[in-house]
Amino acid sequence: MLKQIVGIGLVVISASGVISVSAQQAEPTPEELAAQAADTRQSLFKLLRYNLNMISGMARGTVAFDAAVAERNANRIAELAPMIPELFAADTRAYNIETEALPIIWDRMDEFTEKANNLVNAANTFAATARGGERNAILGGIRAFGGACGNCHETFRED
Ligand code: HEC
Repeated sequence: MLKQIVGIGLVVISASGVISVSAQQAEPTPEELAAQAADTRQSLFKLLRYNLNMISGMARGTVAFDAAVAERNANRIAELAPMIPELFAADTRAYNIETEALPIIWDRMDEFTEKANNLVNAANTFAATARGGERNAILGGIRAFGGACGNCHETFRED
């Protein structure tokens, strides 16, 4: 009796396994692809925010000052920022998806890319300052660093 019950359970599991495999193989629609692209780029921005928040928290006094953490996080941002234009290669303008990206991004991709490069440069400059270890210089450099984020949002992101 017990064996029979276990047997039935297995059939159900393998049947549902087959269903989920075939669902994965179905071609995503263009709108689903656009939604995935937006999701990926939004994840990148969340990582940028995570790394910058630790640094800006040092200026606000909510995060303990640590030059090594400031340098590490700035280096991470310098590594991540070149992915911004890469992840906007998918033009999602035509689709009804959740996004704050303004359509002009794809009309002015050169300018958008330049603003991403500005962030890379700002992150590298700040990392060099952080490596110097001087507290006042580091805290004084945070505003300019963060400004490279806001500078792109002003033009290319919804308020
Ligand atoms: C080259 C332009 C550009 C730069 C530079 C940039 N952003 Fe953005 N950011 C955008 C755009 C465009 C969006 C909207 C993306 C979307 O909704 O599809 C966005 C969205 C975001 C979001 C919202 C993500 C979400 O949850 O949907 C955060 C947070 C963010 N950016 C933080 C940052 C931080 C922090 C920096 C700097 C370290 C930065 N961004 C630099 C263009 C930029």
